[in-house]
Amino acid sequence: MKPAILVTRAIFPEVLTKLEQYFEVESNQDDIIFAPTELAARLKGKAGTLATASARINAELLQQVPGLKMIASMAVGYDNIDVSACTAHGVMASNTPEVLNETTADFGWALLMATARRVTESEHWLRAGHWTKWRYDSFLGADVHGATLGIIGMGRIGQAIARRSTGFDMKVVYHNRSRISAEQEAYANNAQYVSKEELLQQADHVVLVLPYSAASHHTIGATELKMMKPGATLVNLARGGIVDDQALIAVLREKRIAAAGLDVFENEPKFHPDFLSLSNVVLTPHIASASEATRRAMANRAADNLIAGLTEGKPRDWLNPPA
Ligand code: 8YV
Repeated sequence: MKPAILVTRAIFPEVLTKLEQYFEVESNQDDIIFAPTELAARLKGKAGTLATASARINAELLQQVPGLKMIASMAVGYDNIDVSACTAHGVMASNTPEVLNETTADFGWALLMATARRVTESEHWLRAGHWTKWRYDSFLGADVHGATLGIIGMGRIGQAIARRSTGFDMKVVYHNRSRISAEQEAYANNAQYVSKEELLQQADHVVLVLPYSAASHHTIGATELKMMKPGATLVNLARGGIVDDQALIAVLREKRIAAAGLDVFENEPKFHPDFLSLSNVVLTPHIASASEATRRAMANRAADNLIAGLTEGKPRDWLNPPA
């Protein structure tokens, strides 16, 4: 008999076909978001699950599903998974690193450019029929070329963003939990390691790509926003909760910084309604990794992890291997 698994959300059909070669698959192609009690009920009797970042995997859930052996998440960020609780319950956990680096870095630039050069704001204005004449001061934005790029979170995605900045003749400063190697700094357009405070004071464009944890909660709050240059922009590609959205709304409203580009929000898919009344913010629905090829690669990587975990006891992207 094949082991049973749950795929918590809708997924590419070919990934289900692959999983069906190894498992009895309960899928959710209607893409219903299961409440925690529903998720626990559906995980009963399952050996594993392919989940997304919308599933909260914590001790309370794991206690209810003693037969579960593996959770394969289709995301690089795993702040939704209590990895120590998984270890305590003997559950393997995996994520999908690497495959989304370049696509997410591309989108970081899309958001940075749209934010600095007021792309969506001016398009809305045009669509609303306001464009009757050219004016010397219409939609003046901030230059990207020649500016200083500040990256907080210099992991693989941060480095891929930095590397792209060579074409814009930018200076790169970064802040990270620890300094990256000299080779990595060279690859990342000779990025210079600085404190968070120095970065905020120097950067014309700040990009956030650090993982979310209790320690990184509100990395950017009212105090940090005050340190930013007037006219600077802020892009959050990382997770809601890294930025204090209420504090950001206040500085955007006063135009103390020029603009922000946000792909993630506190409590998403709900978000602070005041963002909608601000013209100097570009809002996207958590799509940084959403290219056709990359989402397929992520789904396949998660499926391959689940297959390797449940058949060989060794997923490739194992977050909690035995010490
Ligand atoms: C996913 C992400 O789209 O990988 C991550 O950490 O944030 C995104 O690429 C999302 O988390 C879906 O699980």
